[in-house]
Amino acid sequence: MSVLVHVATTLPDASRFSTLRHAAEQANAKLAFLQGGEPTLTHTLDILHAAGVREVRLQPVSTDNLAYARSWVGRVAGHWYRQQVDPPTIHFGRRTITGREAPLSSAAWDRPPNYRHHLLVCRGPRCSARGADATSRALAQALAQHKLTDEDVLVAQTGCLFPCNHGPIAVVHPEGVWYGPIRPTDAERLVRKHLADGQPLTDLMLDAEHRLPEGET
Ligand code: FES
Repeated sequence: MSVLVHVATTLPDASRFSTLRHAAEQANAKLAFLQGGEPTLTHTLDILHAAGVREVRLQPVSTDNLAYARSWVGRVAGHWYRQQVDPPTIHFGRRTITGREAPLSSAAWDRPPNYRHHLLVCRGPRCSARGADATSRALAQALAQHKLTDEDVLVAQTGCLFPCNHGPIAVVHPEGVWYGPIRPTDAERLVRKHLADGQPLTDLMLDAEHRLPEGET
């Protein structure tokens, strides 16, 4: 028996579960997540292996970065393959997984980077409904524009951080400054002022008493 598996590769895919599952059902495929969602790719492979499936075809979906998908779907599948007794044949595009794929660990991933700021960006359900996807993209673009790397600002996307009424929410550590709502048009100013120049933005802070009027930046 051969089984097609759609592999959702990006972190925001977890919030698109219904859409992705529908697409998988239409293609008579299983759905698995590389990150952020369930079932994970390795758990899906476990289930298929236990069910006696002898051939698996992996197909990355919902990604605009095929190089990333090729690298990480292959690595994770190879990691799983190496740990099995009599694993099924796994096809991934034109490749067949052999177990000789690059490992999941590397000296570069042994320690956290020496970052100055830790930026938590909420991707919970209410922030997502209020536009956290566009805010998150705008923050990433502003970080790139100001040439801030993981050594300057380590970004983590999170589930609900609780003050959903003010979403989209973001938090900057080590200062512990909470911001919200952050609109895409706020992103560049937040990155420039706080993350590059070290000056927190009082008008965007949660519960700021002197919030600027809507549309004013
Ligand atoms: S969903 Fe973002 S704070 Fe709750």
